[in-house]
Amino acid sequence: MSEPTTKLYAQNGDPAFPKIVLPEIANLAQIEVYESHGGYGALKKALAMAPEAVTDEVKRSNLRGRGGAAFPTGLKWTFMPKGNEKPRYLAVNADESEPGSFKDRQILEFNPHQLVEGILIASYAMGIKTAYVYIRGEYYKWYKILEKAVADAYSRGYIGQNIGGSNYSVNLYVHRGAGAYICGEESGLMESIEGKRGYPRVKPPFPAQNGLWGNPTTINNVETLANVPAIIWNGAEWFSKIGAEKHPGTLLFGVSGHVNKPGVYELASGTLLTDIIFNYAGGVPGGKKIKMVIPGGSSMPPLRGEQLEGIRMDADSLRAVGSAIGTGGVIVMDEDTNLTRVLARIANFYWHESCGQCTPCREGTGWMRKVLNRMNDGAGKPEDLDLLLRVAGNIEGNTICALGDAAAWPVKFTIQRFRKELEEEILKREKSAA
Ligand SMILES: Cc1cc2nc3c(=O)[nH]c(=O)nc-3n(C[C@H](O)[C@H](O)[C@H](O)COP(=O)(O)O)c2cc1C
Repeated sequence: MSEPTTKLYAQNGDPAFPKIVLPEIANLAQIEVYESHGGYGALKKALAMAPEAVTDEVKRSNLRGRGGAAFPTGLKWTFMPKGNEKPRYLAVNADESEPGSFKDRQILEFNPHQLVEGILIASYAMGIKTAYVYIRGEYYKWYKILEKAVADAYSRGYIGQNIGGSNYSVNLYVHRGAGAYICGEESGLMESIEGKRGYPRVKPPFPAQNGLWGNPTTINNVETLANVPAIIWNGAEWFSKIGAEKHPGTLLFGVSGHVNKPGVYELASGTLLTDIIFNYAGGVPGGKKIKMVIPGGSSMPPLRGEQLEGIRMDADSLRAVGSAIGTGGVIVMDEDTNLTRVLARIANFYWHESCGQCTPCREGTGWMRKVLNRMNDGAGKPEDLDLLLRVAGNIEGNTICALGDAAAWPVKFTIQRFRKELEEEILKREKSAA
């Protein structure tokens, strides 16, 4: 087997930057180009290994899910029952609907074959014969790119019967959603693939026992699986040494808001948040101070501008400062940002996207939206903040899926951490309304 000749899998042999998104390799989305850079070499290597050895390699790499919860990927794969004759499935989560998250589409655009290769290796490892990519409806451009990548991989014999001359066969289908955030929640996603309304399921049973059509299923994020070929090619040891010890690899940080150069930056996990904002994303326009940063997509607890120094971007470091890595979507807000407006905007989103199945979420998101819109219209009262905390507290932990928490957290933590600013905004508006 020939060594990958270029940056694919291992950036010119530099273990510090095994990037997935590689716009510098022209036309990498074309299968010939991907192959000419060693692509699908890791699949061939995996097919020569025992399936359990592939899972073990991923487990030892310490790869953790990039879909929000940072759950250990190899461990998740071992949850699939052994010796079970039922059909089993892989569902790949390309729903990417959380405000502030726009990283998976970079993989779909610039390196779709590395995702396809990762899906095939994961399927082989878990004895899966059918895999689905669930892609959000609005991602039409990326759907077309992925569809072509899948068709080309079929025509080359990487997907289908007896792939790569082995006795392993697998099919891969791309399924478009219709634009609902709840369908990114893993059990809502499975309901949607089954053709039903995307209502999350009560867990347990978990998907590895009772997934698609009641059969064992694993759900993984796009970025998670796109990491797998490099792990198999270079080995678990190599991957586990990149970035933060307990959350290794690169992370795709989508930086938005008040920065000079918004965009997606692929960097080693554990990179300093201030490095991302000031060096990579070019700092804040006009040199203004930062009021608030949400480090992992709109549902994650926000950080105060004064506390950013020294914070590293990995799951454990962020947990230690009372936040979470989520999807790595960094939303920066400068000193002039009106936080009431921010919260009202976020609350409107979660109210709109609540599936309505659980009463605390259905009613609670409506109440939070109502109160925040009223505050935003200049009719807020200081006691509204406690009312919001009570409503958020009645949602959190009381719903079938984590959309309830996702709606409650921004309200709860912003009030807890920015109470003075919010009270000032309420009073200022009351005064100007008088
Ligand atoms: C409301 C809601 C929306 C979600 N949306 C996404 C999404 O768009 N993409 C994603 O990968 N995970 C999303 N998740 C997390 C998934 O449920 C699941 O944990 C993830 O896809 C697992 O993949 P991973 O282990 O590779 O991270 C969402 C969760 C919730 C509660």
